[in-house]
Amino acid sequence: MATVHWCFSAISMNVLAIETSCDETGIALLSGKKTENGFQFVILANTLLSQASLHAEYGGVYPTLAKREHQKNLPVLLKQLTEQFRKEGSPEAPELPFEIDAIAVTEGPGLEPALWTGINFAQEIAINLHKPIFGINHLEGHLISSLAKELEIPNSRSSIFKLENMPFPVLGLLVSGGHTQFVENSDWFKYAIIGETLDDAVGEAFDKVARMLGLPYPGGPRISKLAEEARINNHDSKIKLPRPMLNRDSCDVSFSGLKTAALYALRDNDLTSDEKKAFAREFEDAVGEIFVAKTRRALTETGAKTFVLGGGVAANKHLRESLVSMLQKEFPQVEIRLPDLSITGDNAVMIAEAALLHLLLGHWKPDEGRPEIRADGNLSLA
Ligand code: KG4
Ligand code: ZN
Repeated sequence: MATVHWCFSAISMNVLAIETSCDETGIALLSGKKTENGFQFVILANTLLSQASLHAEYGGVYPTLAKREHQKNLPVLLKQLTEQFRKEGSPEAPELPFEIDAIAVTEGPGLEPALWTGINFAQEIAINLHKPIFGINHLEGHLISSLAKELEIPNSRSSIFKLENMPFPVLGLLVSGGHTQFVENSDWFKYAIIGETLDDAVGEAFDKVARMLGLPYPGGPRISKLAEEARINNHDSKIKLPRPMLNRDSCDVSFSGLKTAALYALRDNDLTSDEKKAFAREFEDAVGEIFVAKTRRALTETGAKTFVLGGGVAANKHLRESLVSMLQKEFPQVEIRLPDLSITGDNAVMIAEAALLHLLLGHWKPDEGRPEIRADGNLSLA
């Protein structure tokens, strides 16, 4: 196998990134540089608009509506971004494109009509500004941004994320509304999927069970809130849910059986408000136990030296705590990276960070953008 020689760039680079894969429209401007022990990303300006409340009445993301909203929001957000950038800098700060080295845009996976909106918008900017453009895998954005840590800088108006070098192989657990995967990351940008969901993504299961409980989309954070109340009050559920695939000899998971069991249980039982909270706890417990068991297996299988959790469901407190507790007890030598809560949901900062890493490591040449970027709803990491 050929050895990869990374070419390190000492200079900093600026990337304008656009994310429209699902129901969040995001544009961010970041500066990145290589540091002594890793990388540093400074958010120069960042805008994000969630369409979640509009999709709530459909109980999930409605692609045509998402596309229309992205089209409407993108020009507004770009204007806001320029104003924010001026305000954060000096009043005389130049208009965009202030030394932008490249444009990055999510090319997949996601809803294709939504992805195309971002790609067309980004391509227009790239042509107007004569800048190179690169397509980014949304899942790589989740993984790379989750490896970085937000620095607390007193009296600073800008957010800085520091990505310290970590030992490879890295085991990534991606948990979002569209994906659930265990990814073995043997070196920068080298991925192998070693386990995944056979049916629903875990975020989708959270959203569907929330809907059964009468909670609006997106249901994940709402289930989590109810479950936490039950935990605080020590309320256990009288209804027990299955833990599918728990003892199966693989790193794959499955949530459709859990979802169906929840559906039947809720159909056959009229729950009080406290019982609903306890039920939410039971559902969260089932999800937590499944991921703890499968993460244990995946770590043993890969001998990973670092573990990272990424994606929207990485905001789930119970999942974070269960994984950390198991890792500290059983794999104390493994370095744990959990994403800051500001970065778990979809956003353009993560797309910029992934692009900057490709550029700073010399994996991509800034003067060689991609001539054609096509939306790929099923784009895979490996
Ligand atoms: O990564 P993401 O923002 O979008 C996709 O790429 O899919 O993930 C969204 C998913 C939704 O299903 C949402 O309900 C779930 O993440 N989610 C949570 C929590 N916060 C967001 N699920 C469980 N607990 C949470 N605290
Ligand atoms: Zn996502």
